[in-house]
Amino acid sequence: MSSRSCLSVILAAGEGTRMKSVLPKVLHQIAGLPMVVHVVKAAEAAGAGDQALVIGHGAEEMRKAAQKFAPKAETFVQERRLGTAHAVLAARDAISRGYDDLLVMFGDTPLIDPGALTAARLKLAKGAGVVVIGFRTPNPTGYGRLIEKGGKLVAIREEKDCTDEEKKITFCNGGLMAVAGKQALKLLDQVGNKNAKGEYYLTDIVEIAGGQGLDVVATEASFENALGINNRAELAEAEGIWQRRRRREAMLSGVTLIAPETVFFSHDTEIGADTIVEPNVWFGPGVKIATGAKIHAFSHIEGATVASNCDVGPFARLRPGADLKQKAKVGNFCEVKQAVIEEGAKVNHLTYIGDARVGAGANIGAGTITCNYDGYSKFFTDIGEGAFIGSNSSLVAPVTIGNGGYIASGSVITESVPDDALAFGRARQRTLPGKGKELRERFASAAAAKKAAAK
Ligand code: UD1
Ligand code: CA
Repeated sequence: MSSRSCLSVILAAGEGTRMKSVLPKVLHQIAGLPMVVHVVKAAEAAGAGDQALVIGHGAEEMRKAAQKFAPKAETFVQERRLGTAHAVLAARDAISRGYDDLLVMFGDTPLIDPGALTAARLKLAKGAGVVVIGFRTPNPTGYGRLIEKGGKLVAIREEKDCTDEEKKITFCNGGLMAVAGKQALKLLDQVGNKNAKGEYYLTDIVEIAGGQGLDVVATEASFENALGINNRAELAEAEGIWQRRRRREAMLSGVTLIAPETVFFSHDTEIGADTIVEPNVWFGPGVKIATGAKIHAFSHIEGATVASNCDVGPFARLRPGADLKQKAKVGNFCEVKQAVIEEGAKVNHLTYIGDARVGAGANIGAGTITCNYDGYSKFFTDIGEGAFIGSNSSLVAPVTIGNGGYIASGSVITESVPDDALAFGRARQRTLPGKGKELRERFASAAAAKKAAAK
């Protein structure tokens, strides 16, 4: 298979008015990645070495997104939307390079399984001219129907062009097609627009190819593969399906999810075996978690790296650049951003660590804050190995606490502290014997005098 060259043409020129959005439909995200990029990735996984993205509506934003997420894809603009065959032909220059296999996909069908594409390509390798990936549904309204005779696909009839008899067919066009790359242009150029919608239908190449004696077949994939997103309810449905697949994959690879339906992954979440994830955890993009970690309930994690056997949460927030080394602990109501927490260090309660390094084995007391920002610039706090930061301390960056440094509780530390030093950054305590009682009596008699005067 790998010896066969393959181009995927992904149609994404449509506006998607039903999303009611300023963003082009296919740029709405599933698992933190635009849906059209899921399609590109599926094509790549099925061995398509080149990708052609047909854009139209919101072309500028589409180009930007392509550059960011799929920099290898070529973009082609379809100036007027005259139908799916017309859209494929916008990529004529790419197709005419002469590939063995051509995959046509829709940008709004993000759950396509690369396995279904690979199966279709295998049929091309065995000599088929056109392979249509279909699905069965009890409710086929709106889809093109696959009309078969003797195991061969003879036509795809769009809903609006169907007879009453044809409307009863439940085998539908999922919108994914594999075409013998060297025949593709010849077939597409013969498509006309004499149909109910006056559009150039890609689906017409089925009859055209059959008429020329090419082998035309349908394969069946699950409905999810063909789930097209038209509105935000369907977007959420697709997100749900994606999440269910991903959770299952995580569990089968050795991750314990106590309540899987409450854990949300991103497209690129990496998570090692024997990690336990408690309920209600959110993984934003860019998270890597090694083996044997514990992610306690209600933690929100993005752009963070967590080494093996770390303990995170409950209610922890790890923001981009948080880098927890082995056995580090970040506990409840702690936020860590752009900071390395070295091996075995503990940041356990009500703390903000930003733009910092916390040395191995250091202990950060409850309520510690790295004051990293003066309203204009960010500054770094370096905390040495084995340091102890007493509760409720403010470390005003830039500042360094040496190895083994010891900070008294409630300190505001503005100057660096050498190794093994003890630093107090607070007013010295004064204790006045008997003064508490005296004060109370003074206040009580003043209040009584006021009350008497008011009578
Ligand atoms: C299409 C199929 C139908 C199939 C259904 C599956 C055709 C003629 N019909 O119908 O058999 O059951 O998908 O969902 O192919 N597009 C362009 N330029 C155009 C027209 C469309 O880029 O000129 C893009 C759209 O943005 C969309 C995709 O092609 O991503 C499909 O077009 P759409 O109009 O939604 O086709 P359907 O009527 O749903
Ligand atoms: Ca559609």
